[in-house]
Amino acid sequence: MLVRAVGRTVVLREECELMLTRFETELASISDGVGDAGSPTDIERVVLRDGSSVVIRPLAAGDEAAIASWFAGLAAETRYARFFAFLKQLDHRTQSELARVDHFNHEAIAAVASDGSTVGIARYLRIGKPRSAEVAVAVADAWRGRGIASMLLERVATRARAAGIEEFIAICLATNHAVIRLLSRLGATTVGPSDAGVVELRIDLKSTRPRSLLSRAAERRAG
Ligand SMILES: CC(C)(COP(=O)(O)OP(=O)(O)OC[C@H]1O[C@@H](n2cnc3c(N)ncnc32)[C@H](O)[C@@H]1OP(=O)(O)O)[C@@H](O)C(=O)NCCC(=O)NCCS
Repeated sequence: MLVRAVGRTVVLREECELMLTRFETELASISDGVGDAGSPTDIERVVLRDGSSVVIRPLAAGDEAAIASWFAGLAAETRYARFFAFLKQLDHRTQSELARVDHFNHEAIAAVASDGSTVGIARYLRIGKPRSAEVAVAVADAWRGRGIASMLLERVATRARAAGIEEFIAICLATNHAVIRLLSRLGATTVGPSDAGVVELRIDLKSTRPRSLLSRAAERRAG
């Protein structure tokens, strides 16, 4: 029994090594084609729907202060919607994982208010398959409804496409219609069955019509 288990362990390890090699080969071929998919130097000031403004920037690697500032602005329900737990604070490990961006496999774009507080973050993290990434977003409660999540998601999707990602996967509460609608704008979306109140969304980034182009077309039609 033990011998069989050990034999299976060896086979499993070999399978994992083979998968890892394939994954790395495919990643190398993707990264060869993109150059700097996520330059950390892209910083822009944007005016929001209500006339206020924020600076949008990629998170810097190790920027745990920005994560802490963002988390502090999220109400209990918002934290639950993002992390599926009523967290009073982020533990150090989670905080450093969220700040471990490399602008290729893991990217995070932040919105920063004029007082320096981080009021929204959208991110993708490549998982399992080289062309898939998990996506997530949360905006500080005091900053909702001004278009921040839409802008962050648009930018994170653009960077993901540049890094060779073709599909976003999002896990969210089945009742979270706001985020389901927001994410569906990024591309053709399928929503899986609800399991314990949670659904998985798959967003095909290849099918996307960038929102800015759509809005411009609508503006032209309106004009
Ligand atoms: C969902 C969320 C990210 C939206 O952020 P936001 O900055 O307010 O979003 P936007 O201002 O870009 O709004 C996008 C659209 O959603 C609508 N919307 C935003 N929040 C909403 C809410 N709570 N209920 C209903 N609609 C909402 C807006 O009216 C807007 O619609 P429009 O573009 O047709 O005018 C924010 O409410 C949030 O942080 N929620 C908790 C975190 C979360 O659920 N994360 C999901 C895990 S992936």
